[in-house]
Amino acid sequence: MKRYAHIIGWGKYAPENLLTNNDLSRMVDTSDEWIRTRTGIRTRHIVGEGETTATMSVRAAQVALEVANVTPDQLDLIIVATASPDYPTPATACLVQDALGATRAGAFDLAAGCSGFVYGLSVASGLIEAGMYDTILVIGAETISHAIDWSDRGTCVLFGDGAGAVVLQASESPGGVLASVLGADGSGAELLYVPAGGCRRPTSADTVAQGLHFLRMEGRPVFRFAVNIMPRASRLVCERAGLSLDDIELFIPHQANERIIQASARALKIPAERMFTNLERYGNTSAASIPIALCEAVEAGLIRRGDHLVLVGFGAGLTWAAAAVQWSMPWPVPTRPWWRTTLRWLYYRWASLRSWTLRTLRRLDTQIRKPFNHDVENEDQQPHKEDSTK
Ligand code: ACO
Repeated sequence: MKRYAHIIGWGKYAPENLLTNNDLSRMVDTSDEWIRTRTGIRTRHIVGEGETTATMSVRAAQVALEVANVTPDQLDLIIVATASPDYPTPATACLVQDALGATRAGAFDLAAGCSGFVYGLSVASGLIEAGMYDTILVIGAETISHAIDWSDRGTCVLFGDGAGAVVLQASESPGGVLASVLGADGSGAELLYVPAGGCRRPTSADTVAQGLHFLRMEGRPVFRFAVNIMPRASRLVCERAGLSLDDIELFIPHQANERIIQASARALKIPAERMFTNLERYGNTSAASIPIALCEAVEAGLIRRGDHLVLVGFGAGLTWAAAAVQWSMPWPVPTRPWWRTTLRWLYYRWASLRSWTLRTLRRLDTQIRKPFNHDVENEDQQPHKEDSTK
């Protein structure tokens, strides 16, 4: 029996702190007028104290699981698409797995810039269709504000922080993720990159002093690439799904620049209203932008059961990705009984207790073994018996 991967839950999280264009005009030589007319952005959310890519991912995931009516122990896999992980290693997805108490799930991060979420959706739907997994959480999340040079007006006005998540589940009913397109052109790697901190240019006092850990971007070539690739990827994914552009009720494009979105609509010869935009309030949240936009489009009642959507993005790499989706969920979702919400709350309390217990036991284990390890170390330092007889 053929299997399909349906989106059955969705959730988003944006930090409370708002940064307006006027705030930015007090930090660098820019203006509200320039930012609005060149990008369409008015405000963006910036993480507060204690907020990270993992904490925002967890908040978005909890909402998505609630909508899906799925408990974390039902998850088989967690994919976090991000270019701003909590640590270089381990994967942010593992931190999310632990915080949710997703005890059965594998977890990994995916780095494909702003295309990351659609890459994740494509990987997850492939694994579900192949019969390997039944339920997968795909998150796009970024704390890009920490990689921004707040004195560079060419980049600091563009980006914001946030997270979006979807739960994908196997079903025998046709629909869900119908087709996807993934692409890359690494010859454009240096158009949008963080020069240092990897093995090519390891972190040193010098790299920090030179500001090489901030995001560098050549805006114009990225713009040209985007307006060319967005329509191409959209057309190709429709072709693969056996759909025409007229069959698509709503396009959810990566929210980088309103002019890129409008140019893509013109190239596709579709009215601008069929391109969902919310970048006015979020800026470019990189891998989080498409799932946040998807959530807002659903919550605005713009997506109905049976509708066809195209999610399409481009980003650092250079990369691009598109997915054609047939929506299968009602909106509003039926309200869950109070006891289910309470059980879910208890589950998350249990997950944090479980995490604390595991960490404590591991620490105690190390303490208890210390004297023994000490003996073993001393033993190792003794000349070997056979050697001493020589
Ligand atoms: N405020 C005021 N003036 C500015 C600002 C600013 N914030 N930024 C640039 N300028 C100036 C420039 O210095 C330039 O001045 P000059 O003519 O005296 O040299 C002038 O404005 C025009 O600059 P351009 O770079 O040509 O402006 P453009 O219209 O191309 O807009 C922008 C710049 C918004 C960055 C645009 O090129 C763009 O959106 N590019 C795509 C970026 C993008 O999508 N990045 C995300 C990729 S996804 C990911 O993976 C993260």
